[in-house]
Amino acid sequence: MDRILITSAIPYINGIKHLGNLVGSQLPADLYARYMRARGHEVLFLCATDEHGTPAELAADRAGKPVAEYCAEMWAIQKELADGFGLSFDKYGRSSSAQNHRLTQHLAGRLAEAGLIEEVTENQLYSGTDGRFLPDRYVEGTCPECGYERARGDQCENCTKQLDPIDLIEPRSAISGSTDLEMRETKHLYLKQRNLRQQLSDWIDSKTDWPILTTSIARKWLDDGDGLQDRGITRDLDWGVPVMRGDKPWPGMEGKVFYVWFDAPIEYIACAKEWTDGRGAEDAEWERWWRTDKGADDVRYVQFMGKDNVPFHTLSFPATIIGSGEPWKLVDYIKSFNYLNYDGGQFSTSLGRGVFMDQALDILPADYWRWWLLSHAPESSDSEFTWDNFQASVNKDLADVLGNFVSRVTKFCRSRFGGTVPSGGTPGPGEEALIARLEAGLKAYETHMEAIEIRKSAAELRALWTAGNEYLQAAAPWTAYGKDPDRAAVAVRLALNLIRIYAVISAPFIPDASARMLDALNSSDTAWPSEMGDALAVLQPGHAIEVPDMLFRKITDDERETWRAQFAGTRD
Ligand code: MF3
Ligand code: ZN
Repeated sequence: MDRILITSAIPYINGIKHLGNLVGSQLPADLYARYMRARGHEVLFLCATDEHGTPAELAADRAGKPVAEYCAEMWAIQKELADGFGLSFDKYGRSSSAQNHRLTQHLAGRLAEAGLIEEVTENQLYSGTDGRFLPDRYVEGTCPECGYERARGDQCENCTKQLDPIDLIEPRSAISGSTDLEMRETKHLYLKQRNLRQQLSDWIDSKTDWPILTTSIARKWLDDGDGLQDRGITRDLDWGVPVMRGDKPWPGMEGKVFYVWFDAPIEYIACAKEWTDGRGAEDAEWERWWRTDKGADDVRYVQFMGKDNVPFHTLSFPATIIGSGEPWKLVDYIKSFNYLNYDGGQFSTSLGRGVFMDQALDILPADYWRWWLLSHAPESSDSEFTWDNFQASVNKDLADVLGNFVSRVTKFCRSRFGGTVPSGGTPGPGEEALIARLEAGLKAYETHMEAIEIRKSAAELRALWTAGNEYLQAAAPWTAYGKDPDRAAVAVRLALNLIRIYAVISAPFIPDASARMLDALNSSDTAWPSEMGDALAVLQPGHAIEVPDMLFRKITDDERETWRAQFAGTRD
């Protein structure tokens, strides 16, 4: 049994996430967590909301609420949606927690002691109208790179270029729209990442098994001329973790907070402490996952994120960890994703384009979405959601293949065998061929799941469902029943057991449907099928089963068109 620590990039607090966000980190992380638990490993799966920074403040402002209140409300909403999608976090924390405040201040203090923090006096945009400095997204203007007129001070949404507010052409305040901005002196802390360049570079080079998408982004930042800059880790804002040097005030930094990208990844660790504190458990319990001097050397730590997050996880956060000189666990494997596009364009939170998590659950159960999103995960390139493709996948894979198998077998068992697993007959060549096919397919599925090759895993799972259908079609127990009831009994007994196997191996993808399959079989045996022959004998003759309500319904053409129109426009 291994111990596996899994984190998903923590979603920004400002608003409900769209399906592109979901498939870019939280959902694949959940797939992996569920799979590893099913294989008997000890898993700690953490996520949280990313609550600091200008996006949170601006969203609270727009909602007309104090930012703390806004964040508390949005946390509850995001938590409920995560539950709705079956995301099986052991803890869904908050980057604004007291635990994260303390740990962030502690790590900053350690970095300062290690000589890795520099105090820099610099000029920042200041708005007289708003009476404040305007960091990051508090400034909007024209992108110097592509000319997009609504670029934000941290990044251009159009061309993805990382920006500084002072790079923007014709800058204006995002709060008041004022263009009456001046440069004012202010002091900030910089993390001297350049001092850690060699260590980070060696560490990345040692990760020979990482996906190219991950390492190429990290190498680009390390090797580019302006790659690994020392970076400002503080801001002139009210909302955030107050700048302290451990538990001591930081002279000259009064009234400032740490930059959101400094404290957010630290929440991965703090979240584990929230997890134990919330239950009144000992610190040793979370430390054995995070501190290599307290047992975390044995842990395999896997992170999931979208590609835009990779620099922060391959360089900035490791710089914090390594620079602290403390024995924190470093990530072992980073699984990163490209983008999911929406129907010929991009998902857009600001424009409300595409399907958002709440809307998705309003129209169909989570498993429909989980299956489509995971089986089309943007792994090797960007992928695209279209309603045609969604309808086709659901109707074929879920309804025609898996759903139909379960329904035919259980109904036939009820009508011909009184709803109990039939006895009699002995397996023949047809059954043996199927077993061989299932064994090979399951091996391949396990290999892909372990390698976190999500599309390949889904394809293999689908092939396993298809193999059962083809067997059933050929064995045709409904025809055999008349002249050779024992033949029919063999097929039905095998097929019922196969439903249990499907339930167990499909649960990481479609947990609700899997639970309903097991319910219908009156079974709570979730043992992974290590030996196919044994696994096909779990449900013994005489065991009573039921016919479940329809597992998956088909999406009609009318629905498809209605939804296409409904989600094309702007969310209100
Ligand atoms: N909130 C960020 C995003 O959605 C992700 C933060 S991940 C962490 O892009 F490492 F900073 F926690
Ligand atoms: Zn641009």
